[in-house]
Amino acid sequence: MKKGAAAAGAAALGSALLSERLPAQGAEEASGSLHKGDAAILRFLAAAEILETDLWQQYNELGGVDVTSGPTLLYVTGLEQLDGDMPQYISDNTDDELTHEKFINAYLASKGADTVDLTPFANLQPSTADGAKQVGRLTNLMHLNVDTSWWTRYRSSTQNPDFGDTFRQAQTINNRTAIPRSNDDLVADASKMSGVSDRTQAIANVAGFHFGTIEQGGTSLYPSLAQRVTNVEVLRIVLSIGGTEIAHFQTWHDKAGNAPPLTDIDPVTGSKVVFHDLNNDPGFGGEDFQTNLIMPEPTIFLNRNFPACSIIRPTNTKGAAMAALHGLTASNLFLGQSKQFFAFLRDLAEDADDARRDG
Ligand SMILES: [Fe+2]
Ligand SMILES: [Fe+2]
Repeated sequence: MKKGAAAAGAAALGSALLSERLPAQGAEEASGSLHKGDAAILRFLAAAEILETDLWQQYNELGGVDVTSGPTLLYVTGLEQLDGDMPQYISDNTDDELTHEKFINAYLASKGADTVDLTPFANLQPSTADGAKQVGRLTNLMHLNVDTSWWTRYRSSTQNPDFGDTFRQAQTINNRTAIPRSNDDLVADASKMSGVSDRTQAIANVAGFHFGTIEQGGTSLYPSLAQRVTNVEVLRIVLSIGGTEIAHFQTWHDKAGNAPPLTDIDPVTGSKVVFHDLNNDPGFGGEDFQTNLIMPEPTIFLNRNFPACSIIRPTNTKGAAMAALHGLTASNLFLGQSKQFFAFLRDLAEDADDARRDG
């Protein structure tokens, strides 16, 4: 049975009954012939991939290779200020997430284990800008707090989040939209070389950093969970998919630094954003912000007595699934979602974090 299908069936029956039927109240999911912990880890990853697909599809509809005419081209042009290949990369990243989601669920099903279906929760409002499909969404890209501390984390040679270290933001992005919410957000400005107004460029810049934020999350999540996988074939899946998250992150890390410096106040929310020149802003970042330092700087790993090592970080396995869920929630990615949605995801995360490696 599809995990989540119970929620779909119950949606018409009223919320009281719905909450009784949700699996968060201790219902046990079927693992089939899979190790119980492996099935739980794969189910959490399936959910994460479904959520990634949902957000990437929104980016793809408005910034991908299929946008060839109309006002939304201004957003595409804004993205292209970061790199001329942005539409191709956005479309390819979207395709990849969809294959991750479909593969993991198909693998779970092939072993007789419960799969994951979030479609009952796809009720958030879509953008109304030209190109956006008018269908319910799982994720909300219109009020993002984008954590850009990965920028400084991957440049540090002395600190590691697994040692409790924290890192400053590269850009401060709070309550900002990463997609045009409507055609009103698509504004030309003939005085700019690109022809794109600061209002629209700011949206593209937020997207450019959010791409890196999402994919560094996947880059850490897979190795973090892999440490508690038991079966070697499941480990192969987790390592092989996890590697493509790293490929995505590396690409977006390279592009985000090209976001044009600007200041913008959102006319809808009043929220201000300042994009600094990360190479040259006096007194801002200094050498640690330099935009071509995109390879992971060697840093401390496991024990301070070992030599510095170029690594993915964080990779601590304890509570990794719940930490990922908390991070996404704090970013406002699920703003407007139902209590049932959060209960369902918490259940998946708890089960994944309860998984223990056997043997
Ligand atoms: Fe993915
Ligand atoms: Fe990803």
